Amino acid sequence: MIVLHETAEVARPIGEVFAYVSDFTTTAEWDSTALRARQTTPGDVTVGTEFEVVCALPVGTVTLQYHVETLEIDDIIVLRGVCNFFHVTDTITFRKSGRQTKVDYKAMFTFSPAIRPLEGFFKVGMEKMGRKSVEGLACALEDQFPLSLPEREGREKLFPEVSLFTRLGYHFGRKRFHPMSASIKGQHIVITGSSAGLGYATAKALARRGAHLTLVMRDKAKADAAIEALQSSTGNKEIRYELADLSLMRDVESLVKKLRRRGHAIDVLINNAGALFNPRAETIEGLEKSFALLLLSPYRLTEGLKPLLKKATAPRVINIVSGGMYTQKLDVDTLQNDDGEKYSGSIAYAREKRALMVLTEEWARAWAEDGIVVNAMHPGWADTPGVQSALPEFRCVMRALLRSPEEGADTIVWLAAAREAGLVSGKLFLDREIRKTHLLKKTRESVAERSKLLDFLSDKADTTS
Ligand SMILES: NC(=O)c1ccc[n+]([C@@H]2O[C@H](COP(=O)([O-])OP(=O)(O)OC[C@H]3O[C@@H](n4cnc5c(N)ncnc54)[C@H](OP(=O)(O)O)[C@@H]3O)[C@@H](O)[C@H]2O)c1
Repeated sequence: MIVLHETAEVARPIGEVFAYVSDFTTTAEWDSTALRARQTTPGDVTVGTEFEVVCALPVGTVTLQYHVETLEIDDIIVLRGVCNFFHVTDTITFRKSGRQTKVDYKAMFTFSPAIRPLEGFFKVGMEKMGRKSVEGLACALEDQFPLSLPEREGREKLFPEVSLFTRLGYHFGRKRFHPMSASIKGQHIVITGSSAGLGYATAKALARRGAHLTLVMRDKAKADAAIEALQSSTGNKEIRYELADLSLMRDVESLVKKLRRRGHAIDVLINNAGALFNPRAETIEGLEKSFALLLLSPYRLTEGLKPLLKKATAPRVINIVSGGMYTQKLDVDTLQNDDGEKYSGSIAYAREKRALMVLTEEWARAWAEDGIVVNAMHPGWADTPGVQSALPEFRCVMRALLRSPEEGADTIVWLAAAREAGLVSGKLFLDREIRKTHLLKKTRESVAERSKLLDFLSDKADTTS
């Protein structure tokens, strides 16, 4: 048997340290050998919860099945891991030590009879690995990571940037990800469009982290199913929904009124709901649908919810834009997409996303004194129901290169949860990195066009209320 025993002290409350470590999927963020980890049983982490952890070996990988044997909140967790070559019992205890938390980590490895004679040979390397892992855990919990800036500075180029939209872009990008140990337990997060796709994946990831969610959906049957699935898979019961068709300003207005009446501070607002409309269509209120859903709706919702954002300690707004915006220049006169025969759903969509990006920058500037951080992200290309229905040919050709909804949603979750994501405002992100907002000179708008956008949206909001 080989026993590794390490301790670490971190300046974090014991509850946050326990929550981070007992969610053993975080092992992929700090353990020096863990490559991937997932929880394989539904619900809260408790006795009986299982995790699968894929670890690197000097040659190849090994998959360990972990089982929680003992769990006493803020005190101890014992996990037993099994693979073909060995089994391991991890005993992790937590103690308050002044303003610090002390973590005591003991791992006892028992090797299979065929490997046992080689134990002495492994010992030194394993001790080194144990030290490195607990150092990694302390570093993750210290949470002092800088913001990642893009590696490739210099000329703006469309093609290399677009190649990063694929799942390969995500897989290269994630090599630079830092651990995300900040606690969002009990934070109130509002997400629009969470019945499917990126919104659902975001809701699931944030629910696992203990956030209180208000999900905005338009279809009651889908909303009931989503809430039921989210609650049972994450064990988080603090998830509710509000019904609203966000392309209708009357629904946006009544949603704002309802949430304001309820009065709960909003820590994070995620403007995610979206769709691509082909052919051109108008709402019953007479607004072109892309304009209504992708721009006027998040404008009115965010402006309307600003008093609740201001009530939070460190509020954040996250606008979901699209790489399609790189092809479009802000032109306020075209935002209602009255192009007649020439109407294209993709162009209409990209125009509204470009305008939402400009709005992100303008809000960030104007709301800095209120302490509201406003950022945008684009998810690359992710295989969601939206892409399946609106872009079937694109999906057919690109399928092998599309990201999963979870990969597409990763930066939304990071913008909502990571400490360092609250340090900048008015930026565009892809894969947790700040990206350029223009890749072509011809898409740069003038200062006059930006202020025209603000006037236009303010007028439109008044005339449709
Ligand atoms: N997937 C990508 O590759 C990609 C790329 C760039 C940007 N984006 C952006 O990412 C966001 C999420 O996209 P997705 O791919 O996850 O799309 P999705 O699978 O179609 O999901 C969109 C969500 O928005 C909701 N929604 C649509 N219209 C609505 C309305 N009028 N009122 C209320 N909710 C409405 C949908 O609800 P229903 O289920 O009721 O339809 C659904 O929950 C969008 O803003 C999209 O523009 C996606």
